[in-house]
Amino acid sequence: MTSLGVNIDHIANVRQARQTTEPDPVQMALLAELGGADGITIHLREDRRHIQDRDLILLRETIQTRLNLEMAATKEMMDICIKNRPDMVTIVPERREEVTTEGGLDISNNQKNLTILVGSIQEAGIPVSLFIDPFLDQLEKSLEVGATWVELHTGKYADADWNNQTAELSRLKEAVTAAQSLGLRVNAGHGLTYQNVEPVASIDGIEELNIGHTIVSRAIAVGLKDAVQEMKRLVTEPRNNKLFVESLNKNHS
Ligand code: PXP
Repeated sequence: MTSLGVNIDHIANVRQARQTTEPDPVQMALLAELGGADGITIHLREDRRHIQDRDLILLRETIQTRLNLEMAATKEMMDICIKNRPDMVTIVPERREEVTTEGGLDISNNQKNLTILVGSIQEAGIPVSLFIDPFLDQLEKSLEVGATWVELHTGKYADADWNNQTAELSRLKEAVTAAQSLGLRVNAGHGLTYQNVEPVASIDGIEELNIGHTIVSRAIAVGLKDAVQEMKRLVTEPRNNKLFVESLNKNHS
């Protein structure tokens, strides 16, 4: 069964908009867990635009599920990671000017650095996942730099219009099969919503979906615990929620 990692960066975004102490992503993570989150994901960006170092330290102490730390492939982040010992690290590309992570890693142009970084973190006993586009060459490169996991970027699928969505879904399915035959374990995420998540959650072999923006958005209407509970149902029982998804669509029109 696919598990759900809840990305809470956008809770920190609201706090940072006023540089204050509320809402506190650490408290909210506990509500996400009560709603059924199997893990909590945070992205500690180099510019600290949302999640802060203090959040990482407190989340490590308080959450009862798994902590997945997304970070750039830098020495600073590697040191922070090894010190704080998340349950998994997901290496993502990072550009200061971007609003959110825009695409998968460019492994070829950073192969030496990634090999050292992945090796050092895994030697410290922390599994490393690489956020990549769902292409065979990226999977092969992930293996070459020593990663044991990949997170497939679902952004193209999420952004595709209806007549391209099936092709993007097939691309994801083929990437999962290829990853498995290479011995890589697979997560996926980015841009998934209550409306588009079910076909991805139905793909055998994806162990966890990391989902943030849509859950935090829905939480404004129904509260975080319920928003997570609703998403958990879509992820664990995909294609069984037609009435619920239709009711969301009605509210949007
Ligand atoms: N996975 C990765 C690697 C990400 O960078 C993000 C966004 O921070 C997500 C998943 C979650 O994306 P979204 O907020 O669009 O659900």
